[in-house]
Amino acid sequence: MLTPHLNEAKKRTKSLVKIENFKMPEELKKIGLGKTYYVKTYGCQMNVHDSENIKAMLEEMGFNEADSMEKADLILLNTCAIRENAHNKVFGMIGRIKHLKEERPEIIAGVCGCMAQEEVVVNEILDKFSFLNFVFGTHNIHELPEILNKAMHKNNIEVEVYSCEGNIIEDMPAKRDSKYKAYVNIMYGCDKFCTYCIVPYTRGKQRSRRFGDIIREVKNLKDNGYKEVTLLGQNVNAYGKDLNLEYDMSDLLEEVAKTGIERVRFITSHPWDFTDKMIDVIGKYPNIMPYIHLPLQSGSDRILKLMGRRYTKESYLELFNKIKETVPGVAITTDIIVGFPGESEEDFKETLDVVNTCKYDSAFTFIFSPREGTPAAKMKDDTPLSVKEDRLHQLNELINKYALEANVKYLGKTVPVLLETISEKKDGMLAGYTDTMKLVNVKAPHDKLGKIVDVKITDVKTWSMDGEIA
Ligand code: SAH
Ligand code: SF4
Ligand code: F3S
Repeated sequence: MLTPHLNEAKKRTKSLVKIENFKMPEELKKIGLGKTYYVKTYGCQMNVHDSENIKAMLEEMGFNEADSMEKADLILLNTCAIRENAHNKVFGMIGRIKHLKEERPEIIAGVCGCMAQEEVVVNEILDKFSFLNFVFGTHNIHELPEILNKAMHKNNIEVEVYSCEGNIIEDMPAKRDSKYKAYVNIMYGCDKFCTYCIVPYTRGKQRSRRFGDIIREVKNLKDNGYKEVTLLGQNVNAYGKDLNLEYDMSDLLEEVAKTGIERVRFITSHPWDFTDKMIDVIGKYPNIMPYIHLPLQSGSDRILKLMGRRYTKESYLELFNKIKETVPGVAITTDIIVGFPGESEEDFKETLDVVNTCKYDSAFTFIFSPREGTPAAKMKDDTPLSVKEDRLHQLNELINKYALEANVKYLGKTVPVLLETISEKKDGMLAGYTDTMKLVNVKAPHDKLGKIVDVKITDVKTWSMDGEIA
């Protein structure tokens, strides 16, 4: 049994990052034959992509995907720790698993992901939910075959979570959710330590992948018919900073663009490391999509300082304007936290002011959630929840107004859309995204799936648009 420790997770040393290659052990290739699995994923794109790796490993072991949790022989929750409500959802799900295991005790169930890296969570699991069969963390996803094998042969819970700074595992297989667009990790972990955020503790130190490995993966995806890649990292702009090479995010973006893959995206961009060179490269290559997610968090310099974000309202706006001027037609979205400890009405007004200036295409907005072990969780927070809820409501009204305004500009225009799926809501229509990341439902024959087509926008709403092939 190996459990996580907060104090270990906080550490950053100069130890070298090891790069290993994944290989499925021969003797474990059949342990899932005749059995089914169900993976439930919470959280960010990083977790979505981890689940794609997990599913592929399970299939290499002989498991088949079940269409519901109720029918599966193996259940795995890939969890997120970013806010309290993410936690609550997972504990609710563990309750459901308990009922399923009462009916079918042979079910094997486990927890992985960011919550598994939390000392408090693992202690709670050992204390109250030890009917689960296994727990592993974000640093040893590649050990799933061995961990699962052990869990299948013992009666008590198998816990294997490292609190290390993390290594890099290459050559993990992936069962991708889409045949047309793919996530590509370019870096793992985060060293920014924003005071509210748990990610540096759950994902370890910043580790950039070698650019050769990234380019090879992108070329491979392109050769296999993929139209779009999204380069993933908590801080993609800081790519390469840990490698001490004369090679940064702008170089990587340029090389990825030059592979000729039709669409290149990246998330998330911290305003801190966003260089002019990067903006120029984004403006220069038509296959780098004119869409940037640029988290603001707060518009108040005082709060930004308490958050440890290392930019000011002024420098953020300067960057924002530079991007708007250099990248024609760019859409910019953001993340905002309200109710950070000590946020006053004045501070909140500063946030609204930035929103009124930037008129974002859309935004994810959150009420501050104290995360155990982070500095902000210890800060004095005397704003009543009702005030925070009211601020969130005001903010959302404004965000929605500008989102609709941004969409209205598309009415009657013809824009490129990568048709990805059959629309869930609109009968028989296909759905996809514009280069600027707007969701469009399109009247189109199903043989257009996987193609980038010109679409004339016929109707717009706040969060989606309708269109027809031009
Ligand atoms: N690496 C990204 C953020 C990833 S987390 C970045 O730096 O931009 C996604 C978003 O969750 C953050 O941008 C932030 O707005 C929100 N978030 C993170 N921790 C939070 C907390 N403790 N409470 C509320 N929102 C939080
Ligand atoms: Fe969290 Fe800040 Fe790192 Fe983003 S940059 S993952 S908000 S610590
Ligand atoms: Fe959540 Fe972990 Fe992503 S905390 S947001 S799943 S990095």
